[in-house]
Amino acid sequence: PIMKELLGLTDLEEQIQNRYGLKQVVIVPGDSDFSEYTKKELGRAGAAMLLKYAAKEDIIAVAGGSTTSEIANQLSASTHLKGNLFVPARGGLGEMLELQANTIASNMAKRTGAGYRLLHVPDHLSEDAYQSLIQEPNIKEIIDVIRKSRMVVHGIGEAMVMAERRKVDETTIRILDSEGALAEAFGYYFNDKGEVVHQIPTIGLRIEDIEQTEVVIGVAGGSSKSEAISAVLKFGHEDVLIIDEGAAVKMVEKM
Ligand code: BG6
Repeated sequence: PIMKELLGLTDLEEQIQNRYGLKQVVIVPGDSDFSEYTKKELGRAGAAMLLKYAAKEDIIAVAGGSTTSEIANQLSASTHLKGNLFVPARGGLGEMLELQANTIASNMAKRTGAGYRLLHVPDHLSEDAYQSLIQEPNIKEIIDVIRKSRMVVHGIGEAMVMAERRKVDETTIRILDSEGALAEAFGYYFNDKGEVVHQIPTIGLRIEDIEQTEVVIGVAGGSSKSEAISAVLKFGHEDVLIIDEGAAVKMVEKM
């Protein structure tokens, strides 16, 4: 805490918390665009917030990505989380295995001693496949569980970086561009006003479910993500935000 005072991070935390009406903001020193160590610190702070806000027997939905993966790495056996259930926030989004929500939910569960449920849905679902999948009793059942999540933990990405990482087709890239997509979180794309402009066709949490979720925790870092983070905050349903100094300084400059 003393270190944070000296760096002025406590002040930045308060500014961001007040501007967006958040429950809590945590800023770790450094910039994860340039430092693996800072990314680890983000993971550590994310893990601490997850523990802080989790209640007994919660269902916790987690999104994929390298940041939530780092949170999983920083979790350890916890009696507090034993009765909890980790589930993926959404089905396949086109990520590689290590970054998929299923992988991260199961890692979090294994590390903490909590339970987990997985959702197996192929990437790039067609409308027909989607319609028949949601009729499947097994899928219906797990979707019901996911929608009961009291908490969501997710990363935030830059729209185009995410679209490229997931190898979406040219047409979609053009659509995202023309719609002014700036940020991405849990498979939804947001413009600079925080409006959803596009979504990846898959199943799991819908935007209206996120709006109802009691505790939404966003974790993201790197100065390159500052605009994306601000966009998701304007969406207005985040409760706890964990970012790094690199992102925070640039966000506050533009507030
Ligand atoms: C995705 C999540 O898998 O990872 C998104 O669904 C998030 O919520 C993205 O925007 C961020 O990835 P990273 O690797 O930058 O943490």
